[in-house]
Amino acid sequence: MLFLGVLANLFLIGVSTEYPSVKKEGYTESQTCGACHTVIYKEWKNSLHASSISDPVFLDVFNEVEKEKKTFCLKCHAPTVRVTGDYDLTQSITKEGVTCDFCHTVKSVDLNKDEPFEFDLGFIKRGPFESDLEIGHKNLYSGIHLKAEFCAGCHEVVNENEFHVMSTYSEWKEGPYAEKGIQCQNCHMPEEFGTPIVNPEIAKTQRSVTAHKFLGGHSQINITRAASLTQVLDKANNSLSVVVYVTNSEAGHSLPTGIPSRKVILTVKLFDSKGEIIGEKEVVYKRVLVNSEGKEIPDKNIKDMFLKAAALKSDNRIKPKETRREEFIFPFTRGMGKVLTVDSALRYEFSVPYLEPNIMRMEMAREIKTINIKEEGKGIWKWIVSIIAVLVLLFILQITLRALRR
Ligand code: HEC
Ligand code: HEC
Ligand code: HEC
Ligand code: HEC
Ligand code: HEC
Repeated sequence: MLFLGVLANLFLIGVSTEYPSVKKEGYTESQTCGACHTVIYKEWKNSLHASSISDPVFLDVFNEVEKEKKTFCLKCHAPTVRVTGDYDLTQSITKEGVTCDFCHTVKSVDLNKDEPFEFDLGFIKRGPFESDLEIGHKNLYSGIHLKAEFCAGCHEVVNENEFHVMSTYSEWKEGPYAEKGIQCQNCHMPEEFGTPIVNPEIAKTQRSVTAHKFLGGHSQINITRAASLTQVLDKANNSLSVVVYVTNSEAGHSLPTGIPSRKVILTVKLFDSKGEIIGEKEVVYKRVLVNSEGKEIPDKNIKDMFLKAAALKSDNRIKPKETRREEFIFPFTRGMGKVLTVDSALRYEFSVPYLEPNIMRMEMAREIKTINIKEEGKGIWKWIVSIIAVLVLLFILQITLRALRR
C-alpha cells in the first residue's frame, strides 16, 4: 500500500514538472492558474473582480481618499494586502485585485471577527469538490466556498460609524432565498456544462466550469431577468387609473443592491390618440444615506458614502420576490381622443464619473397598453338592456300563467 502511494506520488511529481506549478509559499499569480484553468481565467480576467483595483470608476474615488483611509478600501479592492500588508501597491499580486489565489486560499470565514477571512497560503487550493487528480497543486474540499458567507466578507460593507454602506449579504440573509438555501453562487456562478475546468491538453477532467464572470448590474443578461412589470388600466371618476406592479423576480437581494448611488426608475408615460405625450410620472427606487449630522449624501459623492455615512434616511428598494403596487391617476382632458396609450418602463441607472455621458441607463422591463375611454356608458347600457329583457320575460310569464289558470 505504502509502496503504491509513493509510486503514485512520484508519478504526480513527474507530471507536474512539465507544467507550471503554483508556488509552495505565498500567493501565486493568476496567469499561472490560467495556464491550466484556461476558461476560468478568461472569464475572471473580464470580470469586475479582476479590475477591482484598476477600474477607473474605483480609481476616480480612491484617488480622493485620504492616505490613512486607503487601507480600508484596499481590504476588499486588493484583498491580498490582508496577508501581505502591501498597502503601497508595490507587488504585482496586489494589482490583480480580487485574484484567484485570494479566493482559493481562504480556509474559513467568521463574520463576527474584525478580519473575517482565515488563510492557508501555498500549495493547497481549496474548492467545491474532492479531487485526487492533482497536477500543479494539491486540492482540498472547502464547504465555505459554496456558501454566501464567503462573499459576505466583501459584499457587506460596514464603515467606522458601524453603518452598513452596502448590505447585499444581509438583504439576502433576510429574504426568501436564504431560507431556501439558494446561495449567491447558485445565481452568480452557474455551471457551464461541457466546458472542462482544466485545459484538456493538460489533464482529462470530468468536471464543468462554474462561471467566474461574476455578472451583475453591469450586464444586460442579468438585468433583463431581474425584474418584471405589468400594468392595469382602468377608468375612474373622469380619469385614467394606471396601476403598475413591479416585481423583483430574480435578484436574490434588494433591487437595486450594492453602491447606494444605483437606482431603478419606473417611468409611466401617457400618449393621446395622436401619439403625443400628454403626461409622465416617475418613481425612483433607491437608498438615501445621511452623515452623522443628518445631512443627505448626494449620489455623486461615493467617497462620503463609504467614509461618512452614519444612518439611513430612506430605502424604498424592492426586496427579493416582492411585488410593489404603484398607482398613477391621469385626469381626462378635452381633445385627448378616444384611445389612450400607456407606456411603462423600468430602467436601471448608475453613474460612471469618468465617462461621457456620466449616466448609464439600461432597460429592465417594459409594457405598452392601450385603452378606449369613449366606450364609457356601454357597460351601463348593457345592464339597462338586460334588466328590460328580464322584466319583459317576467311580464310574458305572468300573462301565460294567468291564461293557463283561466
Ligand atoms: C498544472 C495545472 C494547474 C495549475 C497551474 C493550477 N491548477 Fe488548479 N487544478 C488543476 C487540476 C488538474 C485540478 C483538478 C481537476 C479535477 O479534479 O477534475 C485542479 C483543481 C483546482 C481547484 C478545485 C479544488 C477542489 O478540491 O475543489 C481549484 C479551486 C483550483 N484548481 C484553483 C487553482 C488556482 C487558484 C491556481 C493558481 C494559483 C491553480 N488552480 C493552478 C490543475 C492546475
Ligand atoms: C475579497 C473581496 C470579495 C469577495 C470575497 C467577493 N467579492 Fe464580489 N466584488 C468585490 C469587489 C471589490 C467588487 C467591485 C469591483 C469594482 O467594480 O471595482 C466586486 C464585484 C462583484 C460583482 C459585480 C458587480 C457589478 O456591479 O456588476 C458581482 C456580481 C460579485 N462581486 C459577486 C460576488 C460573489 C457571488 C462572491 C462570492 C462567491 C463574491 N463576489 C466575492 C469584492 C469581493
Ligand atoms: C471571488 C472569489 C473567486 C475568485 C476571484 C476566483 N474564484 Fe474560483 N471559485 C470560487 C468559488 C466560490 C467557487 C465554487 C463555485 C461553486 O461550485 O458553486 C470556485 C470554483 C473554482 C474551481 C472549481 C471548478 C469550478 O469551476 O467550479 C476552480 C478550478 C477555480 N475556481 C479556479 C479559479 C481560477 C483559476 C481563478 C482565477 C482565474 C478563480 N478561480 C477566481 C471563487 C473564486
Ligand atoms: C436568486 C438569484 C440571486 C441570488 C441568490 C443572489 N443574486 Fe446577486 N444578482 C442577481 C441578479 C438577477 C442581479 C442583477 C440585478 C441587480 O442588479 O439587482 C444581481 C446583482 C448583483 C450584484 C450587482 C449589483 C448592481 O446593482 O450592479 C452584486 C454585487 C450581487 N448581485 C451580489 C450578490 C451576492 C453577494 C449574493 C449573496 C449574498 C447574491 N448576489 C445573491 C441574482 C441573485
Ligand atoms: C468590505 C469591502 C469593501 C470596502 C471596505 C470598500 N469597498 Fe468599494 N466595493 C466593494 C464591493 C463588493 C463593490 C461592488 C458592489 C456592487 O457592485 O454591488 C464595491 C464597489 C465600489 C465602487 C463602484 C465601482 C463600480 O465599478 O461601479 C467604488 C467607486 C468603490 N467601491 C470605492 C471604494 C472606496 C473608495 C473605498 C474606501 C473608502 C471602498 N470602495 C471600500 C467592497 C468594498
